[in-house]
Amino acid sequence: MARVTFYSGEAVPLEMHKVRIVQKLALVPIERRLAAISEAGNNTFLLKNRDIFLDMLTDSGVNAMSDKQLAAMMESDDSYAGSATFTKLENKIKELFNKDYFLPVHQGRAAENIIARVFVTPGSVVPMNYHFTTTKAHIMLNGGVIEELIVDEGLQVNSTHPFKGDLNITKLRALIAQRGAGNIAFVRIETGTNLIGGQPHSLENIRQVRAVCDEFGLLLVLDASLLADNLYFIKTREAGCKDMSIRAITRELSDLSDIIYFSARKLGCARGGGICTSSKDAFMKMRELVTLYEGFLTYGGMSVREIEAITVGLDETMDEDMISQGPIFIEYMVNELARQGVPVVTPAGGLGCHLNALQFLPHVPQTQYPAGALASALYLAGSVRGMERGTISEQRDENGKETLANMELLRLALPRRVFTLSQLKYAIDRIVWLYKNRDLVGGLVFVEEPKLLRFFFGKLKTTSDWHSKLVAKFRADLGDSL
Ligand SMILES: Cc1ncc(COP(=O)(O)O)c(C=O)c1O
Repeated sequence: MARVTFYSGEAVPLEMHKVRIVQKLALVPIERRLAAISEAGNNTFLLKNRDIFLDMLTDSGVNAMSDKQLAAMMESDDSYAGSATFTKLENKIKELFNKDYFLPVHQGRAAENIIARVFVTPGSVVPMNYHFTTTKAHIMLNGGVIEELIVDEGLQVNSTHPFKGDLNITKLRALIAQRGAGNIAFVRIETGTNLIGGQPHSLENIRQVRAVCDEFGLLLVLDASLLADNLYFIKTREAGCKDMSIRAITRELSDLSDIIYFSARKLGCARGGGICTSSKDAFMKMRELVTLYEGFLTYGGMSVREIEAITVGLDETMDEDMISQGPIFIEYMVNELARQGVPVVTPAGGLGCHLNALQFLPHVPQTQYPAGALASALYLAGSVRGMERGTISEQRDENGKETLANMELLRLALPRRVFTLSQLKYAIDRIVWLYKNRDLVGGLVFVEEPKLLRFFFGKLKTTSDWHSKLVAKFRADLGDSL
């Protein structure tokens, strides 16, 4: 994305791509939106696409693909074993990450399943900068526990820290001293830390984590699902990396890690995933599970067409014009909302714009899920679908007690190269309207609550008739507008 100075002085993010395939969208009236969100039990995962105007639920599997990716998909080589398409991906992984072994899996959480089954034992600990929902679930399913050692600024919604995803090295040393290195399954670093607002870590921090891992003989596992955004932030925010190429930063991060896994629904802009390592021992242990859970070693549950697209997508990730689009659009949205007084996570991160529901809806107690309520309200206000990233995304403890999230965020993901600036302006407008009418929004309570990963398919109802009040106010303020 070009940082072009406009003669008018306006700061406009300018796309370095053109749109050649489009998908028609529908914007249904607010009365239909009311019915749709009620049918969905106030869970935006359960809405149907036909009722959604701007789908900001996730960046997973929904990034725009390039002409080169689509072209590559046409010449895929399909076979159960030994496909040339797989060899292309294996070679690309070797070229970018310099790892000897690559295992394909159908998506990121499949990699987590395999890594957790191989390395997590009952009672073991996995220190990490911050958890991701599926990661934590897999570690716990295998009897392990997680320890989040993010720097203090990581949990401050507003900060000027450029790398809020860094792991606190002092806390890591203290944990090792307390639990013993032998009880640590591996150290996990998540690039572009998802649940705290897509916040990056620095390259320097990973060098320091590596030094501690070397000192105590620990494995370092890098979750590189959000690597594209993080690479951009290292290049632009880390003084020592300004003159490094994106390829060189990728290579150093990889050299510092023992195992890298990723969701190719995010990294590579297609649908799939993978694990790579240079450790033959780790590879051999994981290999059997790939054939058991995913498929043979030359497809791992992915379609060959997707494998072709991932290969090209990974290569395109090395292009700064490509990886800057997301962060610069997000920065535009975050700055514009902040300017109009809406509480957002700062500094702007990758993945999406994050609204701070605790500050947006201070009158809704955390036990009534402010981030979930905000997701429901914003869908009503603008047919914009976001994702709750707060207490609903946690799970109850073993005694059934609610685990209150560190942050109550509504994530508005900006899938890469998907939305236009006018669509962003529309979303900003509806968020600002909602903020002005925030007193009307109430809480939610579960009516159907699954035990595991309840945010995916749980259902909730409103604690009062606040939905209808919001609809009436919308009509009063905006007349017959959609
Ligand atoms: C950091 C991180 N790790 C792992 C995953 C899981 O990947 P997938 O959705 O492909 O299973 C995600 C997905 O959002 C993620 O953001």
